[in-house]
Amino acid sequence: RPRIGVLTSGGDCPGLNAVLRAVAKTAYWQGYEVFGFEDGFEGLIDPIRYRKLTPQNTQGILTMGGTILGSTNRGRFAARVGVSGRAEIAPELIKKVSATFDELKLEGLICVGGDGSLSTALQFHEAGLPVVGVPKTIDNDLSSTAYTFGFNSAVLCCADALDRLHTTAASHRRVLVMEVMGRHTGWIALHGGIAGGADVILLPEIPWEYDNILAKIDERKQLGKEFTLVVVAEGANLPDGSMVASGESSGNLQTRLGGIGHVVTDELSRRIEQEVRCVVLGHLQRGGGPTTFDRVLATMFGTHAVRLVLQKKFGQMVSFDPPDIVSVPIADAVDSIRTVDPNGSAVMSARALGINFGDTPG
Ligand code: F6P
Repeated sequence: RPRIGVLTSGGDCPGLNAVLRAVAKTAYWQGYEVFGFEDGFEGLIDPIRYRKLTPQNTQGILTMGGTILGSTNRGRFAARVGVSGRAEIAPELIKKVSATFDELKLEGLICVGGDGSLSTALQFHEAGLPVVGVPKTIDNDLSSTAYTFGFNSAVLCCADALDRLHTTAASHRRVLVMEVMGRHTGWIALHGGIAGGADVILLPEIPWEYDNILAKIDERKQLGKEFTLVVVAEGANLPDGSMVASGESSGNLQTRLGGIGHVVTDELSRRIEQEVRCVVLGHLQRGGGPTTFDRVLATMFGTHAVRLVLQKKFGQMVSFDPPDIVSVPIADAVDSIRTVDPNGSAVMSARALGINFGDTPG
């Protein structure tokens, strides 16, 4: 049987296993054998580590969180910025990967990853290797696809957390600040906040002031609502424009000495009598099984990625252009990120409900 490789790279997210299952099944029915490389790109070289994925051994993983292949967003393939200003990996690594393709007689490699991993896949493609991309990130910030799988599951996690915080905040008449993921963009905060009935949402895309949050808390009190739920995206700037923990180097803003959630909580506590508490959702948002939406999207991405390999459409990435799955050049996909439009429908709807973005009083 001819062979296809697949790997999952970067931060994990719900739906990765659904992609692997879809790849294994689709390829099998097309007469192909699938090699699943372990720990992202790491499994491609020194030593080569893979396991064969079949319809049998991928049975039951549709609903499982994480990735059975393992993943990493560090390691030898972590891109450094090269002289061109673009993220680059060392040419020796590409040579070794190329040797692996020859040794295993791979006809194509499906790389499931976010912007960093897709940039690596793009370099493989530019070096003549037959790769296709599958976008994934809970942050939903890739510009060339309407949605990435994992996002919907992360939003559900936020909404569920807000439902729980709602009752305890109301019982104790507290302000609850919940910090959510979103390194560069506020998609999770925005959708999670709307779905969970937040009162204030702070995003990287909308500059905000403490006074406006205080005005909202006050306005709610006038209406007899003595508690307030504030959602803040980890990547939001402080009012003076600074970030609490800048530095994508480690990519993890939550585990630093108090993220922005704690800073906002401390400042609000200083300014009001009311008790203010903080919750950092962190990696809970990436764990657990995928929602039905993410299962379907991940499955469609997996089957379509196999089709791209069979059609030899290398250098392409699958993309969701509702209701269809299409393909776009990986190069376009890693070019820019998609940020929340402050005048877009979701923000407008939220504002119409009275949700405050910290940019206007009340
Ligand atoms: O890129 C996805 C993301 O979930 C970001 O929102 C977050 O900052 C980052 O991953 C956390 O990464 P790590 O798992 O390396 O801490």
